[in-house]
Amino acid sequence: MPDFQTWASAHQHRFEDVLKTLLPQASLAPQRLHAAMRYSVLDGGKRVRPLLAFAAGELAGAEQQRVDIAAAAVELIHAYSLVHDDMPCMDDDVLRRGKPTCHVEYDEATALLVGDSLQSLAFQLLSEHVLSDNPAGQLQMVKLLAVASGSRGMAGGQAFDLASVGKELTLPELEFMHIHKTGALIRAAILLGAHCGNGLDAAQLAKLDHFGKCVGLAFQVVDDVLDAEADTATLGKTAGKDADNDKPTYVTLLGAAQAKKMAAELHAEAMESLSEFGARAQRLRELADFIVIRKY
Ligand code: IPE
Ligand code: IPE
Ligand code: MG
Ligand code: MG
Ligand code: MG
Repeated sequence: MPDFQTWASAHQHRFEDVLKTLLPQASLAPQRLHAAMRYSVLDGGKRVRPLLAFAAGELAGAEQQRVDIAAAAVELIHAYSLVHDDMPCMDDDVLRRGKPTCHVEYDEATALLVGDSLQSLAFQLLSEHVLSDNPAGQLQMVKLLAVASGSRGMAGGQAFDLASVGKELTLPELEFMHIHKTGALIRAAILLGAHCGNGLDAAQLAKLDHFGKCVGLAFQVVDDVLDAEADTATLGKTAGKDADNDKPTYVTLLGAAQAKKMAAELHAEAMESLSEFGARAQRLRELADFIVIRKY
């Protein structure tokens, strides 16, 4: 078995080509919109959600081509969420993945349409490729991503985030916000990867879902810590932005040390939910490790 770094970078390289093929060519009209979509998705990002989908797909015995489509759908939704998150009406950021944000490089209207188009493309992919032997199961996958992206998932979490500016939230409120704005898509990536195969029963899928809930929340706790502690060059996005924007975060509520402790506890709980899978869940464990020890 290759080590984690080798496994992850092989997938990241291969998946870049998958995304390049799935996105409309920039020569196709409307060229500026297509160029902006490619600018926002390609050549950047850690691809954590796709890697989680690949790891879950391997666990469930899924065909790689199917998981690639599911992973691409999630990554397109994620990229759209970043483009909109950076707009002046939201976090007002000028740097993303080490490059000017979409609305800075292009313009605000284009950034809005990039988000719209990436979201539509995600659902186009889930509906035009065969991802499951069972059509009803595939329909459930489409619903799963729709719920995770919408007002009861990521977009709802973002609404809660914007409504919380300048406020002090309770711990349960902050947890609600993070589970939705960031956790929902991470959880969906894992479940969609698993649903591309049929090697897991309902109880095992529930364990994976709990793993996803824990690492999804941990991911945003760590994002809050990095925003406060890391530098702009390492992050590829403006450091200290949460404090500038007066956002309640795990760091403002608990302090950095307690926030890190909380991420470690979530990591332990995530590991616990994988116990029955033994060595088959090695990649998921390594990804959980990466999520809490990452520096960017
Ligand atoms: C950033 O996500 C936004 C959050 C949900 C915290 P990532 O840290 O996964 O961003 P990329 O895809 O690697 O750029
Ligand atoms: C991002 O939260 C959540 C989504 C984009 C859905 P943040 O606003 O903390 O993400 P960054 O720090 O800008 O990447
Ligand atoms: Mg935000
Ligand atoms: Mg932001
Ligand atoms: Mg952040």
